[in-house]
Amino acid sequence: MIGTGIFENKVLITRAKEEDLDSVYYIEKLCFKNPYPIQLLLFYYRIFPEGFRIARIDNKIVGYIIFIIEKNDIGHIISLAVHPNYRRRKIGYKLISSAIKFLKMLDIKTIKLEVRVSNIPAINLYEKIGFKKIRILKKYYKDGEDGYQMIYRL
Ligand SMILES: CC(C)(COP(=O)(O)OP(=O)(O)OC[C@H]1O[C@@H](n2cnc3c(N)ncnc32)[C@H](O)[C@@H]1OP(=O)(O)O)[C@@H](O)C(=O)NCCC(=O)NCCS
Repeated sequence: MIGTGIFENKVLITRAKEEDLDSVYYIEKLCFKNPYPIQLLLFYYRIFPEGFRIARIDNKIVGYIIFIIEKNDIGHIISLAVHPNYRRRKIGYKLISSAIKFLKMLDIKTIKLEVRVSNIPAINLYEKIGFKKIRILKKYYKDGEDGYQMIYRL
């Protein structure tokens, strides 16, 4: 706020542009053991650009979400990550909320995602939003870890 010396670092969620993908890839590498290659990020961006959204603070990209709509009208969250220095500031929550709002507008009734059983921060976030664990996906990840499939019904 001007005059008080207090600056609110506002989070802005927008659709990504192709030129943002390098920053997204940088965050992807910081956040995941087996990051998606940049070509795969580009593939998702090109097949459904509306589902590729970024979070910015002071014009710096600090997080992103990728989602698609599958043939059976199910929304699918493919990836979500927030830069480690910007976590616990509701950025993940805002990114998913933006995806849900958009999918709701398209009359999508179900959103699914997969998450490692050990990923407590993400599971807590998804449950806070209203996702439910519906099944265990045995050895879903490359390193043999199980996943949960989680579903959100709009
Ligand atoms: C999961 C992730 C996206 C959360 O992003 P974030 O912006 O830090 O999360 P938020 O601030 O929106 O958190 C919202 C809620 O989620 C839960 N949560 C988030 N981080 C948590 C943590 N480290 N431990 C426990 N609960 C956590 C809390 O309930 C939190 O609410 P609270 O802060 O009021 O307690 C982030 O930790 C991340 O990028 N992790 C690495 C990548 C990843 O695992 N992505 C998900 C793949 S399925």
